[in-house]
Amino acid sequence: MKMCAVALVLSLLAAAVWLGLTMTTPESSGGGTNPGGGGNPGGGEGDKECVPTLLPKADLGLCGNLEVFYMELGNISCKIIPKCNLYRQKITAWPQPIVKFPTAMDGAQYLLVMVDPDAPSRRDPRMKYWRHWVVSNIKAADIKAGNIRGNVITDYQPPTPPPTTGLHRYQFFVYLQGDRVISIPTKENRNRGAWKLQKFLQDHKLQNHETSTQFMTEHDGELTPPDY
Ligand SMILES: *[C@@H]1O[C@H](CO)[C@@H](O)[C@H](O)[C@H]1NC(C)=O
Repeated sequence: MKMCAVALVLSLLAAAVWLGLTMTTPESSGGGTNPGGGGNPGGGEGDKECVPTLLPKADLGLCGNLEVFYMELGNISCKIIPKCNLYRQKITAWPQPIVKFPTAMDGAQYLLVMVDPDAPSRRDPRMKYWRHWVVSNIKAADIKAGNIRGNVITDYQPPTPPPTTGLHRYQFFVYLQGDRVISIPTKENRNRGAWKLQKFLQDHKLQNHETSTQFMTEHDGELTPPDY
């Protein structure tokens, strides 16, 4: 028993040290175009360099015929949110994006799911999936126009990646819902983290998504947040 306790304490210590180390190791800050962490703190116009860059090749797999637009930034499907203009801070407060599926089938009904598979970090995704947004019963005409409304099962929560956790992927999946009734049990819907997306899909007999996309952003805490 005593040996067990000692071993436990030692492994806890080791874990704490490891955690401390990983927390203080600066993650590569993606984006890369603004190593000085600058951009334009005033958020003014005219910063020609301040445009989203394409995701790395390895992350383009989910890029389908689905477009995501945020105010100011525009279409960020398959892009990395740039650090300049405080975009990485602003996106944490912006309202839900326009999500457009231009080739939605007339008369069909769709389900939209937005998740972060990199919670709390891509290296250690023990809280995957973080559920950001779930809306069912979306009419084709609405999703064609980018107007996401229907039965909001989980309210939209903006990306708020924690400090030092690197770039997070924010993934959008659209499913052909048909006449399925989609729900998430109340208790499960209280927590966003560690959501069992595969189980949810199985329970609703949903298989392949119709289309998908993703973008990436990471925490930017080095500058004072702007007033908006
Ligand atoms: C949005 O961006 C994606 C990926 O770069 C691109 O395929 C798509 O055509 C863009 N759509 C619009 C309307 O700009």
